[in-house]
Amino acid sequence: MIIFSNYVENIKSHFKKEQLKAFDSIVEYDALQLASGGHNDTEGYQIFTPDFIVKDMCKAVGKEILDFTKTILEPTSGDGAFTTYIYQKRLNEIKSEFEIESLRALSTIYSIEMDKELIEKQRNNIFTLLKQFIKKKNVEVDSSFYDLVKCILCKNFIWGMFNTEHSDGLLLGVDVVYRMPEAEKGKLIAVDMPVWEISETSVDVHDEGVDLW
Ligand SMILES: C[S@@+](CC[C@H](N)C(=O)[O-])C[C@H]1O[C@@H](n2cnc3c(N)ncnc32)[C@H](O)[C@@H]1O
Repeated sequence: MIIFSNYVENIKSHFKKEQLKAFDSIVEYDALQLASGGHNDTEGYQIFTPDFIVKDMCKAVGKEILDFTKTILEPTSGDGAFTTYIYQKRLNEIKSEFEIESLRALSTIYSIEMDKELIEKQRNNIFTLLKQFIKKKNVEVDSSFYDLVKCILCKNFIWGMFNTEHSDGLLLGVDVVYRMPEAEKGKLIAVDMPVWEISETSVDVHDEGVDLW
């Protein structure tokens, strides 16, 4: 069993207040709560992608989706129809070194959602998926493993707004995502994306600016 406490402490020491709150709010549900599966779809006007379409679309992308070194960005992610499916598929691929591999598999999935409640729900969905997978497979992990998972969820699963402004058919600016709640009020602050390096002997993360082109 790997103890991740030191890494967690170090990463959390750089967290903003909002991220610390997000960290503390992550919980395991009894079961996944996806609106497309009939949970909390009360808004009526939002369409969440049903499982069979998610499956077909991911199949169309191909096996690259299972490669943990390849990054995935879900820019309007809702409660996680795509991210939960992809993470489940990636977990199924792991043959050994479960702790490190499951962290790596998560660390290259990036998710943006402008609705705070939905991004919170999505973090809980991913956390629930992983916890239930671990129980089912009887893998032993230290509690600090789950804290590191929460760190990745707080950094990679971002409450933000994807740039949708257009000028002459081109996207304005070069930033991928703006921080919420500021963006809601028209103040566009670009969010840097976390890049993780995870091994048996070290866990490191640094933020990098992302350009569309
Ligand atoms: C129709 S839902 C689909 C959610 C998910 N991709 C799925 O397939 O189930 C679209 C989501 O995108 C979010 N959204 C729309 N425009 C956005 C933007 N510019 N930046 C971030 N999120 C956005 C909405 O809040 C909503 O949750």
